[in-house]
Amino acid sequence: MNVLITGGTGYIGSHTAVELIESGHNVVILDNLSNSEIAVLDRIKDITGTRPTFYEADLMDLNVTEAIFDSHAFDAVIHFAALKAVGESVEKPLAYYRNNLIGTLNLLQVMKNHNVNQFVFSSSATVYGNPATNPIFEDFPLRTTNPYGATKLMIEDALRDMHHTDPNFHMAILRYFNPVGAHQSGLIGEAPNGIPNNLMPYITKVATGELAQLNVFGSDYDTPDGTGVRDYIHVVDLAKGHLKALEKLQNEPGLVTYNLGTGIGYSVLDLVKTFEATTGIKIPYKLTGRRPGDIATCYANPDKARTELGWIAEYGIAEMCRDAWNWESRDTD
Ligand code: NAD
Ligand code: WQD
Repeated sequence: MNVLITGGTGYIGSHTAVELIESGHNVVILDNLSNSEIAVLDRIKDITGTRPTFYEADLMDLNVTEAIFDSHAFDAVIHFAALKAVGESVEKPLAYYRNNLIGTLNLLQVMKNHNVNQFVFSSSATVYGNPATNPIFEDFPLRTTNPYGATKLMIEDALRDMHHTDPNFHMAILRYFNPVGAHQSGLIGEAPNGIPNNLMPYITKVATGELAQLNVFGSDYDTPDGTGVRDYIHVVDLAKGHLKALEKLQNEPGLVTYNLGTGIGYSVLDLVKTFEATTGIKIPYKLTGRRPGDIATCYANPDKARTELGWIAEYGIAEMCRDAWNWESRDTD
């Protein structure tokens, strides 16, 4: 298949590009490089032997996006391009609504103009808000608590509305839980700007000595050890889920929605201890107050993806820690 990956030089997009190329697909990447680097393309080539065709382009630019579709006969689009930092979205809501909504609406319009009708969308467990119970099933109520999450839910709603009137537009909404880790080669991974907001990249920066200690946000949650519980999923497992979603759209068109998680919740301290055991590096930490907006527990029921896609997460948290560290400690010369 000819597949356009928007946001394909980013963290999850680059891993998905690798999996697609290794499965024999032809990949074109569109990215404005606002949160990624062009060097990722060479890294993808180092891993797969193929450097994807690349357009440095912004989805906000309708004409440029049209021109890219004029030059290629795409069979499907996997849409990762978005701004994704929850805290920043509270500070800059307009930037998030503009980029994520207008970029996606432009993309969908251009797809319709060119009769490209297979679409995989990066949604997030954030659309479940603070769930009443765990594990979380796909039919749980949807609600969001921040502008970033609101953009994901609004786009999901737009896709569901489109599906009513346009059943020939085939869509997979994938709700990721907490993606971590990196490609086993150590050549691609997550590279947040500045001090990381998310737990795993923060831990790896403590491990390198760049940050002195981890602040554990809250130790009084109603969880086994009092710290927050999440469903961490290896980014390579997540990437493979996108291939399965594309296969599903080929064989059984419609609108489908899947949780992509392992189904297992681990606490902050579970992750710290596993990182220490896997790498042999001590992670100093301090128990501090809760981070505003955080919830106690969030983990998936991934059965629907298993039964309908034949997808299951294969890696555990030890491999997630190993590969995150392998990436963070890479030789950057
Ligand atoms: P990322 O920031 O590494 O990748 C996103 C890419 O999109 C970046 O390379 C950025 O330059 C590009 N981009 C942003 N706006 C663009 C625009 N208007 N035009 C063109 N390119 C643009 O993020 P990621 O972690 O790889 O996330 C990928 C997708 O998955 C996002 O939609 C994100 O919201 C979603 N998601 C991520 C997580 C997570 O924890 N990483 C969890 C759930 C969902
Ligand atoms: C995990 C746990 C923190 C940092 C976020 C987004 C979500 C999704 C994935 C995009 C929590 C604790 C963290 C630290 C800590 N993104 N923690 N010290 O908040 O579950 O999810 O990323 O869709 O929308 O909200 O992930 O990695 O930030 O936190 O104690 O320095 O680690 O309190 O319990 P989160 P996270």
